[in-house]
Amino acid sequence: MQRCKSECLYGTGTLPFGTLGAMSTQSFTIHTHSPEDTQALGVILAQHMPDQAVVALYGDLAAGKTCLTHGFGEAYAVDEPISSPTFTLVNEYHGSKLIYHLDLYRLTSMEELVDLGYEDLLDTPNGIVLIEWAERADTMLPEEHITIKLSHEGEDLRCIEINDAGLMIEGWQETVTAKFPQDV
Ligand SMILES: Nc1ncnc2c1ncn2[C@@H]1O[C@H](COP(=O)(O)OP(=O)(O)OP(=O)(O)O)[C@@H](O)[C@H]1O
Ligand SMILES: [Mg+2]
Repeated sequence: MQRCKSECLYGTGTLPFGTLGAMSTQSFTIHTHSPEDTQALGVILAQHMPDQAVVALYGDLAAGKTCLTHGFGEAYAVDEPISSPTFTLVNEYHGSKLIYHLDLYRLTSMEELVDLGYEDLLDTPNGIVLIEWAERADTMLPEEHITIKLSHEGEDLRCIEINDAGLMIEGWQETVTAKFPQDV
């Protein structure tokens, strides 16, 4: 069992109460020691996303949310650099999947979210929606979404907690564990 300094805790393994449909909720905590590690984690997670996944990203400034998103860009062969959409709220990237990358740090109202076509983004076939500062739109998140919480643990160490809500393609934990054996 991994515990983050912030006391935000997920167990490693299947939550006994987390059954959604045929699949059960998988929660996992991993520590990364560099931006490259966090991006590599993002690649693995991206490879296990269902279609039309919504990924709610939580964490302070510089926690690594955008860095993790870079891994999605790499996994889906996006051929332009993914940058934080701080001033536009949403950026769109075309690769093997369509990435909508939202940063809601400066969101001032739910209307603003509606105006940018948020509902359509969620309904886009082959689309993956990643939302930084997802807490700013808590009431607008679809019921089914994946949650990733990132926190600083000093210098380059980040604690990353993933809860897949039973939505991700099975096997992602094993792949993460194989990549980051030191954290098991
Ligand atoms: N283990 C790590 N994982 C991710 N980033 C790391 C790590 N160690 C150091 N860093 C650094 O932390 C910063 C993370 O920046 P990033 O833009 O991904 O954060 P963010 O959570 O998106 O912040 P913001 O809320 O400002 O958008 C980068 O400068 C990166 O180099
Ligand atoms: Mg960011």
